[in-house]
Amino acid sequence: MDNDVTVIRHPLVQHKLTLMRRKQASTQDFRSLMREIAHLLAYEVTHDLELEAATIDTPLATTEAPLLAGKKLCFVSILRAGNGLLEGMIQLLPSARVGHIGIYRDPESLVAVEYYYKMPDDIGERQVIVVDPMLATGNSAAAAIRRIKEGGAVHIKFVCLLASPEGVRTLREAHPDVPLWTAAIDDKLDDHGYILPGLGDAGDRLYGTR
Ligand code: URA
Repeated sequence: MDNDVTVIRHPLVQHKLTLMRRKQASTQDFRSLMREIAHLLAYEVTHDLELEAATIDTPLATTEAPLLAGKKLCFVSILRAGNGLLEGMIQLLPSARVGHIGIYRDPESLVAVEYYYKMPDDIGERQVIVVDPMLATGNSAAAAIRRIKEGGAVHIKFVCLLASPEGVRTLREAHPDVPLWTAAIDDKLDDHGYILPGLGDAGDRLYGTR
């Protein structure tokens, strides 16, 4: 496996993902599991953030202790299902900036079409973490990353919950400089571009729209 593709095998992640896959999971359950698993994914993907020593006072003594340093973070949510992961991640990193990009898949061609784009001005100086629960064809993620690179982003990671082998290939070929993090790589895509066995439509399951 490509070194820049990380499958997060932590038991809590795997357990929660299985609960999310089950068709019986209610909208409420799916949404809270998405938030919980987003905490865990954010924990894993930020493992290499830089620290610097700060001088602090505890109630008993003055000491040097580590605090986050280095590049500031910017999460970029690919609408709309990306917002499910985003919500949990910014609970863990509440001072991160957030960008949104709206991309939909043309149902006939499965090609990515952009309809919304809003990013922080200083995105080029930030560590950018692009989030979308489902890496299916990989076309939307590749297009979103191409667009934010045009907007100045340089240091980029991509995080999803589930990927297809096709999606991993497409994204890695389009953006070999972007490490990919996922909780699982499933078997394949169906004829409509859905991941099998997958978990269905993540946006619909999050927002109860079907
Ligand atoms: N988007 C989803 O929400 N689910 C899939 O399986 C593929 C794309």
